[in-house]
Amino acid sequence: PAPGSFVNAANTDFSQAANREKQKSALTTVSGQLGRKWPLIIAGKKIADRDYVASVNPAKPSQIIGHWARATVADADAAVASARAAFPKWRATPVEERAKLLERAADLMESRRLELNALLILEAGKPWIEADGDTSEAIDFCRFYAVEMRRLAKPAVTQAVPGERCVQTWTPRGVGVAIAPWNFPLAILTGLVVAPLVAGNCIIMKPAEQTSVIGATLMDILIEAGLPAGVVNFLPGYGEDIGAHLTGHKDVDFIAFTGSRAVGCAIWEAAGRTKSGQANLKKVVCEMGGKNALIIDNDADLDEAIPAALYSAFGFSGQKCSALSRLIVLDEVYDAFVERFLSACPAIPVGNPALPGTVVGPVIDPDAQQKILGLIEQGRKEAQLAFQGTAPAEGFFVPPTVFTHVKPSHTIAREEIFGPVVAILRAKDLDEAFALVNGTDYALTGGLFSRSPRALERAQQELLVGNLYLNRAITGAIVERHPFGGFKMSGGGTKAGGKEYLQNFLFPRVIVENV
Ligand code: SER
Repeated sequence: PAPGSFVNAANTDFSQAANREKQKSALTTVSGQLGRKWPLIIAGKKIADRDYVASVNPAKPSQIIGHWARATVADADAAVASARAAFPKWRATPVEERAKLLERAADLMESRRLELNALLILEAGKPWIEADGDTSEAIDFCRFYAVEMRRLAKPAVTQAVPGERCVQTWTPRGVGVAIAPWNFPLAILTGLVVAPLVAGNCIIMKPAEQTSVIGATLMDILIEAGLPAGVVNFLPGYGEDIGAHLTGHKDVDFIAFTGSRAVGCAIWEAAGRTKSGQANLKKVVCEMGGKNALIIDNDADLDEAIPAALYSAFGFSGQKCSALSRLIVLDEVYDAFVERFLSACPAIPVGNPALPGTVVGPVIDPDAQQKILGLIEQGRKEAQLAFQGTAPAEGFFVPPTVFTHVKPSHTIAREEIFGPVVAILRAKDLDEAFALVNGTDYALTGGLFSRSPRALERAQQELLVGNLYLNRAITGAIVERHPFGGFKMSGGGTKAGGKEYLQNFLFPRVIVENV
């Protein structure tokens, strides 16, 4: 690679016994250090005198991962004031220094990779490979956005004319709130914080309630990397307590959010109400859910399609906004595909994610478990239960579940489930299959398995999703290679890990000089 260009971090090769041993030993070490209290950090100061909330292992709820301080509305005000106060100096800090901070954070994450993986396994219930991918993505976001900010920092000549020097530059928006989900507790939180950070903004970081110990660990890493006081403020808390207050705050210039459709839409709406004394119109970077479909064409290579579909649907228990939720199978191949798919399902390893072979671990918490089990009940009434695996009794498990005879009007064909549940629909031809894919509120990921060049080309024209995957799995976007994000009720059309992402946190300025 050219000097200064971006290179993705390498995942750990767990097929090597030595690496498995190291990960096991990191799990033992981290398990022995759990239960700490994690305070708020505002203006560089730890604030410990608060109520604490326990974060538990979803595979073993008796195991407490740590206790996080529950921020109040007054804390939210203090965090915004601290970010405001830190902004002029951070804005004036050279881009190179800001980029180096991210690169030091990436190096620290790399050196602590197995420990971070262990925390992801224990606090989020991530299987090993998923945890390792989460850590790699966090490292990638730091390194990629550092490279991108260096690129944007060079003033760009708008038009070369005699007598005038005309350039466009970028300036940070100000103070932002990063609100992150629990499903990529390190990667997405890191991306939502470090992108605006390297662009020169000051941040209030609100991790997901379920994974705030990972959030606190990221804060520690940023501090160790040289973060100045107040530039990022660590504010764990309940959305109900502080979310609306923060996002509606007149001194907040932007919100970087990934999470549910309900919360995303509420933030989008609230951001549109301008308050007296508000300096800037609020910008919202909003990524929400999906109801992602994969089409199996009559001539699809089933040896490839079946493992790709299984992984897309059941990897990390289907708790990815990119996860496969609707398998749309064409008429002629329907019986052959469904038979092979269903006979492969019992082989999916379900169980404790602390064991290396697990593919389906628990879901995140009892609320998620109840909601998904409720949707499965609904599915039983509407369609035909074709497969249901078994799951351990301890922990928040939901067995992998497949329905056939699903109609587009059924709840399980429409609502985002965010669990290990797949609905199989039958389509008489590609026209019908494409209409089914597009016939939802969402437009995040989607895919097609086909050997026909015409079908693959049509998919590129007609399948309206943010990330379209042809003849491969539909999850697992890689930074820079697969910029990630969708539209419709999936989000505002931004692409995390893509070339235009940092501009969301910047204002363009044009400077014209008579020369
Ligand atoms: N970026 C993840 C993926 O592509 C989902 O959030 O799977």
